[in-house]
Amino acid sequence: MAERPYIVGNWKMNGTRAMLSEARAIDRASQRHMKVEVALAPPFTLIHAVHREVEQIGVGAQDCHALTEGAHTGDISAAMALDAGAKFVILGHSERRTNHGESDALIRDKVAAAREAGLQVILCCGESEAQRDAGEAEAHVLGQLKAALPESDNASEWLTVAYEPIWAIGTGRVPTTDDIAAMHGAIRGLLTDMYGDAAAETRILYGGSVKAENAAAILALADVDGALVGGASLTAEAFLGIVYAAA
Ligand code: G3P
Repeated sequence: MAERPYIVGNWKMNGTRAMLSEARAIDRASQRHMKVEVALAPPFTLIHAVHREVEQIGVGAQDCHALTEGAHTGDISAAMALDAGAKFVILGHSERRTNHGESDALIRDKVAAAREAGLQVILCCGESEAQRDAGEAEAHVLGQLKAALPESDNASEWLTVAYEPIWAIGTGRVPTTDDIAAMHGAIRGLLTDMYGDAAAETRILYGGSVKAENAAAILALADVDGALVGGASLTAEAFLGIVYAAA
């Protein structure tokens, strides 16, 4: 278990102001579990409201545009997310890669834009079931990271990696603990090759059907520094079960 596990809730396209009470409850309980770092990424429409409601937990965005401003109807820049109260942004989530055709090159530009604005980055990677079955999971995941990360930068200060096998997201299926540990070890190896010893500080989260029931076993693995949680972050009760398992 990491010294201070990082548990991040990704609300995806869920939540209206009625859900602010869940954020408040998560925040209150987190104040009693300072050993765990807790954060929420609500939809853009709630970032400012959640930011105003909470005292302890971090608040982030689920995406940002690669450009800083201009004629891009419906888009949100990194600086806008920061201004609304976000301190980090999730980039490269498989749902954005699939639903919006986001390429590794675009994600690299978004990482740069987020850094330029001063946001921390949670960079997602993960293989499909077909890639895993073909024995290509590790090469695919490391390739995604290499393509999106700058070669020379002290990334440990701003980067968190989230390994989320696509076939485990929202399905109730989870890789074996051996497979999670192997992938996290490979990611740590790549980060060390790229950034040297400082890469030991970069947090690597696991995401994909994390629940209170399986969290402790996953979080106990070497090189698993926390979790990125979707469905089980939508209620304080479910999410706090994971926070307590990390404490
Ligand atoms: O970003 C978190 C995510 O994709 C995992 O979702 O619902 O399987 O916890 P879920």
